[in-house]
Amino acid sequence: MAKSPIGVFDSGYGGLTVLKSIVAQLPDYDYIYIGDNARTPYGSRSFETVYEYTLQAVKTFFELGCELVIIACNTASAKALRNIQQKDLIFLAPNKRVLGVIRPSAEAIGNITQNNHVGIFGTPGTVNSESYVIEIGKLFPEIKVTQEACPIWVPLIENNQFDNEGGRFFVKEHVDNLLQKDSKIDTIILGCTHYPLLIDIIKEFLPPHIKVLSQGDIVANALQDYLNRHPEMEEKCSQGKTVTYFTTDNPEIFEERAEIFLGKSIKAQRINLKTN
Ligand code: DGL
Repeated sequence: MAKSPIGVFDSGYGGLTVLKSIVAQLPDYDYIYIGDNARTPYGSRSFETVYEYTLQAVKTFFELGCELVIIACNTASAKALRNIQQKDLIFLAPNKRVLGVIRPSAEAIGNITQNNHVGIFGTPGTVNSESYVIEIGKLFPEIKVTQEACPIWVPLIENNQFDNEGGRFFVKEHVDNLLQKDSKIDTIILGCTHYPLLIDIIKEFLPPHIKVLSQGDIVANALQDYLNRHPEMEEKCSQGKTVTYFTTDNPEIFEERAEIFLGKSIKAQRINLKTN
């Protein structure tokens, strides 16, 4: 049986925060990362567009041989995952699997909040989709979920303009907005894979008792658990300890910026996503 790398997808660099945690926890497998940098950000795009782009990425991973793909982007998970899982997979490749980041985050939150007041920071796309409210509501109906859309955070991060006076102003603004909506919040999910880069600044503007969760470790734990529960899929994942990076934009720029997310230098190649 041919074995293949695990695919990890994001609209740009944000998924690298998830990939980093996954590789740290499951270092033996091979991974392929694709960042759709040419079309990032997805956060302000329509449902139809995010679905179309994400489906193109999934088809590309399948063409590269991947059996298992993680959509490491909340916006794409919120707007495209369900359709892909329920409508497309059966025609494309019924034995392959595509997993997202929202469900595992929703599952984790119930064991962490003490007072059932949870906050979500996300892109406008993720917030408007209500995916967190719906997923958490299914598992923990007693939890009150309050959301805050932060449209400017991804551009600030993608352009490395967050750790200065202007960047901090916009971080504080959204932190204050969230707490004004619900002052009892004791736990916040960073519901966008870019936001872990802001975690220290976010915490500066929050009372110290509030816990702030990044998704990297949550998704890595969920993947480990998935592979344990699905030995038939685990067997199909190759174990050569490699990570191959693709971007739909300029690979040199990707290499430079990816270093901010990964804390190490990498090599990247350009790829065109499959459009049919
Ligand atoms: N990283 C994506 C997410 O987790 C958002 C970035 C974008 O807007 O493209 O939602």
